[in-house]
Amino acid sequence: MRPLIGTSWKMNLTSSEADRWFGELLPRVAGLDACELFVLPPSTSIWVARERLRGTAITWGAQDVHPDDAGAHTGDVSAAMLADLGCTFVEVGHSERRSAYRETSELIAAKVAAVLRWGMRPIICVGEPRPVPPSEVLPILEADLGVVLEAVGARDLERVVIAYEPRWAIGEGAEPASAEHVGAVCAGLGDWLLSRPGGARSTIIYGGSVNEDTAPAVLETPGVDGLFVGRYALDPERFARIAWAGAARESLHSAPGTRSSP
Ligand code: PGA
Repeated sequence: MRPLIGTSWKMNLTSSEADRWFGELLPRVAGLDACELFVLPPSTSIWVARERLRGTAITWGAQDVHPDDAGAHTGDVSAAMLADLGCTFVEVGHSERRSAYRETSELIAAKVAAVLRWGMRPIICVGEPRPVPPSEVLPILEADLGVVLEAVGARDLERVVIAYEPRWAIGEGAEPASAEHVGAVCAGLGDWLLSRPGGARSTIIYGGSVNEDTAPAVLETPGVDGLFVGRYALDPERFARIAWAGAARESLHSAPGTRSSP
C-alpha cells in the first residue's frame, strides 16, 4: 500500500494564501506518485483546492462536518456540500474539536456515518491525553473507536482512515511521539480492528508534530500507513519534503534505488 500523507491546515491560510501554497507545492511534488497525498484546507478554501488540484493525483477534503445532510444549523457544513466540492476525505473528532466543542464519540460516529453515506472517506482522529505506555493507550483508543465504529460495516471499514494522534504530541511546543511508541500503538490498533466481529483493517496514519526530520523513522515503522501533518505543512516546501520521505519508503520497499528526492 502506498503511504497516505496529508495535512490539515487547521484555521490557517486565506483563500489567496491557499492559492499561493498550491502554486508552491505542485512543482515540488511533480512526479511523486509513490505516495498518496491529500490536503484539508479550512472550508473557505476547499474551492481553491478543487481549482488547483483537479487533474492531479492529490486529493482534498474538509476538517469537520455536520452529521445532518441539510437544515437549520447556522454556520455548519454538510457532507452533501463537501461531496459536491469534490472532497475525498473528511476529518472528524480532532482533539481540538473534542475539547473546544465537547464533541462526544456518539456525535463523531454520526459524522462518520454522514461522510460514508456521501461516498467520502472519514479520517477519525483518536489519541490519549497524556503520555502513557502503548499497553495503556490501546484501551483508551478501543473504548472511543468501539463507539465511533459501531455502525461501520466491514466493507466501509476499509475506507476509514484512523489518525492516531496522541494529544500530548500535537501543536506548538510539543514533541512527536517516538517511532517505537507509534509503531506499538498502530500495530495493536490494527490487530484490534481485525479481531472485531466482521473486522477489517482500516488505514492507520500518525499525526502529532510530524516534520521532515521525524517523518522517515515513523514511515519505516511496520503498522504505520502514513502521516497526518499539521503546522509544519503550512510551509509547502516542508510538506513536500515530508511527502518525498513517503516516496523514499516506497522505493525501499518495492524497487530499491529507483527513486530519489529532488
Ligand atoms: P501538529 O498538528 O502537526 O501541528 O502537531 C497535528 C494535528 O493536529 O493533526
